[in-house]
Amino acid sequence: MRKQIAAANWKMNLTYQQAEELIDQILNADISLKAHQSAVFAVPFPYLIMAKSELADAKSYFVAAQNCYTKRSGAFTGEVSAEMLQSIGISYCVLGHSERREYFGEGNAMLAEKINICLSYNITPIFCCGEPLTIREAGTQNSYVEQQLKESLYHLSADQLKKIVIAYEPIWAIGTGKTATTEQAQEMHAHLRQVLSKQYGDVANEISILYGGSVKANNAKELFACPDVDGGLVGGASLIAADFIQIMRSLK
Ligand code: 13P
Repeated sequence: MRKQIAAANWKMNLTYQQAEELIDQILNADISLKAHQSAVFAVPFPYLIMAKSELADAKSYFVAAQNCYTKRSGAFTGEVSAEMLQSIGISYCVLGHSERREYFGEGNAMLAEKINICLSYNITPIFCCGEPLTIREAGTQNSYVEQQLKESLYHLSADQLKKIVIAYEPIWAIGTGKTATTEQAQEMHAHLRQVLSKQYGDVANEISILYGGSVKANNAKELFACPDVDGGLVGGASLIAADFIQIMRSLK
């Protein structure tokens, strides 16, 4: 079975004390993930080391950065490199979140570079894609998202692609409480897998594709039950211990 992942994206939320408390609450819950399931916590940079050390003994729990820069090192004030992340044992990095694309001008070509640098430091990119409302309303979401994959991923070898996690996050569903229906999610996830299989063959069946956009404790099970949905990337509901615990328990 493909790896099933419940990924928390805390975005720019929580103080250090709140972050510690949230992790403690999750660690104290009896969740017992199965061998093919894992939980990933994408926390703000200042909390990475704390989260990593708190989760050190928890099997199947991983810590992710929410971004990193394209370059190895140098005079890039305010940026964080993949090498730095690797040096503190971080194994995942969210890349291309729609908020990064919209507010920080990240485009598909820059994301291709970020993917490369993460892979070169053995960090698994969680590559986000997804269409805005206007594209969904025009009915052209399939080709829009396909283009995002093409421009950021298609330079990779099949072996490299295997190391990527994809998160489909329709922008109109992010933070709006307007979740995609299970039909919409399944349809897009199947499309993405089909597109990848055209390019890469059977490897496409090994790639975990997460759904993101108003995943909540009360809809996660239904979404994750879709055959091509391999878990979720969760914003708001990942800030509430009881909700995220429920979401982790909803993995198939
Ligand atoms: P919400 O779960 O708050 O809609 O956010 C989704 C998201 O952007 C996760 O990366």
